[in-house]
Amino acid sequence: MVHENYSAIIIGSGLAGLYSAIKLSQAMPNGKILMVTKCDLGESNSRYAQGGIVGVLKENTADSVASHVSDTLNAGAGLSDFNVVKYISEKSNDVIHDLIDLGVPFDRDENGELLFTLEGAHSVRRILHCNGDATGRGIEKRLSELVAQNEQVVLKENTIAVEILKENDACKGVVLFDGTNYSVALSSVVVLATGGIGQLYKNTTNPQCATGDGFALAYNVGAILQDMEFVQFHPTALAVQGEDANHLISESVRGEGAILVDEKGNPFMHKYHELKDLAPRDVVARANFEEMKLSGKDYVYLNATVIPKEVQEKRFPSISAMCLKNNIDMTKDFIPVHPAAHYFMGGVKVNYDGRTSIKGLFALGEVSSTGLQGANRLASNSLLECVVSAYSMAEFVQKNIDDELIEMSEELKKSLKKYSQELGFIEYDTDVLKSELQSLMWDGVGIIRSEISLKEAQSRLNDLKAQFLRNEKCLSIQEYEFKNMLTVAQLIITSVLQRKESRGAHYREDFPLTKEIAEHNCIIKEQGELSFVR
Ligand code: FAD
Ligand code: SIN
Repeated sequence: MVHENYSAIIIGSGLAGLYSAIKLSQAMPNGKILMVTKCDLGESNSRYAQGGIVGVLKENTADSVASHVSDTLNAGAGLSDFNVVKYISEKSNDVIHDLIDLGVPFDRDENGELLFTLEGAHSVRRILHCNGDATGRGIEKRLSELVAQNEQVVLKENTIAVEILKENDACKGVVLFDGTNYSVALSSVVVLATGGIGQLYKNTTNPQCATGDGFALAYNVGAILQDMEFVQFHPTALAVQGEDANHLISESVRGEGAILVDEKGNPFMHKYHELKDLAPRDVVARANFEEMKLSGKDYVYLNATVIPKEVQEKRFPSISAMCLKNNIDMTKDFIPVHPAAHYFMGGVKVNYDGRTSIKGLFALGEVSSTGLQGANRLASNSLLECVVSAYSMAEFVQKNIDDELIEMSEELKKSLKKYSQELGFIEYDTDVLKSELQSLMWDGVGIIRSEISLKEAQSRLNDLKAQFLRNEKCLSIQEYEFKNMLTVAQLIITSVLQRKESRGAHYREDFPLTKEIAEHNCIIKEQGELSFVR
């Protein structure tokens, strides 16, 4: 199999991957960096981020690190790590200013001052945004331009990473597949920046690429994963049929005054939380779910008509256009919305600088679990986590890792033999299989869980596994994605069953109370089997 050496390999080209490429090329001025992405450059969850990115900036005198730390810890429901939260909050000033220096066009007022918005459970306006409600696109577009121009970065698009190579407990590289050919990229620095798992659920705000590959890659190579039961459901995804189904209606629309109402136009959030429409996301998602059960409809409404037309035009141009495309004029009509899987709090266990339990393997952004998000992420903290972790990872690599040549050992060659074996020709319809997986996860491992719903989901998952007979090598990129989705579904169901309490975004109707002591659930693959570690 063709193999090549690199100073560092980055898997994924969302915000964590793009910013890593920029910072690593600065940290290793003579280095050659490979960026692999299974879609085109920039296609990612990051591209669709709306509300914004948290920045605790020195010039925003209403804000402070103490206040942001307190809001983040409150949302995290006991599972956020104080030191990590404080570190990320403190670093946000430098990193946001670095993004500004790189040319990211954050929105400003007529005097050139940065604008800040508000979202659920934030006590002050501290969220920066681009083009009103297209923050992800604004950041991704600028960073993609810089990466594409960077001569140190070798870009491989439409190529999936299918295995991480390890020898003597250290990471050695990655096996790649472009849909036709396999190749090997060798490096002592591998950065997983593969994003989340939204596509495991029937309703999701995430694009097609969010199939959880990074969690499966890390699990299969023996890294520790943490808190895999915590899936965040966003309360307000557009409840329409067709291609715009589940398009996000940003929380910042509620931040600017919109309120959730029932069919008769009556507000209901006061029944669920003192912060009403700006309560933590899990509370609002469950409230919508309850109201949908009460009305028997599969949506509630968001009344944004209370926001003046000129504010809507300036702040929400993309959301307004999306609504209009679906015959909803948000200056006059209520918007039908429902909850959808949005973000994954659990992930590969790392330090604030992305170090995993395996030497040379880093995980950044949504695939990682740094201890920032805890049991429930505070809005707009994830883009911040991507950039602070990437910044710190590059600093760590610069100080601690030599750019060494990796030999293709006999041991590694032996482990690659499986990729040259012929597969029996069974063509799987991965669209059909995926849709059954998405339904079983939505029905059994969704917003409200119980032993009964989980056992049912487990049994449906076992049936799917019995149908899909690919243990290692697959025929197509879609098959690899589906294999990963089965692995991640198993990790989530097992972790949900293990957590016999309700906490943050994880709600079990058979265990509605929160235990006094918050504990992480850590898992690892040992001798081929999932086991819990302390
Ligand atoms: P992603 O941006 O998802 O990038 C993952 C990349 O990895 C993609 O390029 C993908 O193609 C690639 N990839 C995956 N697997 C493989 C593989 N096996 N081989 C090769 N490539 C692979 N957060 C906020 O903080 N503020 C917001 O306003 C906000 N709004 C959001 C709105 C929407 C609609 C969504 C979906 C999310 C939003 N989030 C927001 C969450 C945030 O966007 C994500 O958590 C964050 O962008 C994740 O970035 P990432 O770089 O970790 O992953
Ligand atoms: C949103 O704009 O509502 C999403 C913000 C986030 O997920 O952080």
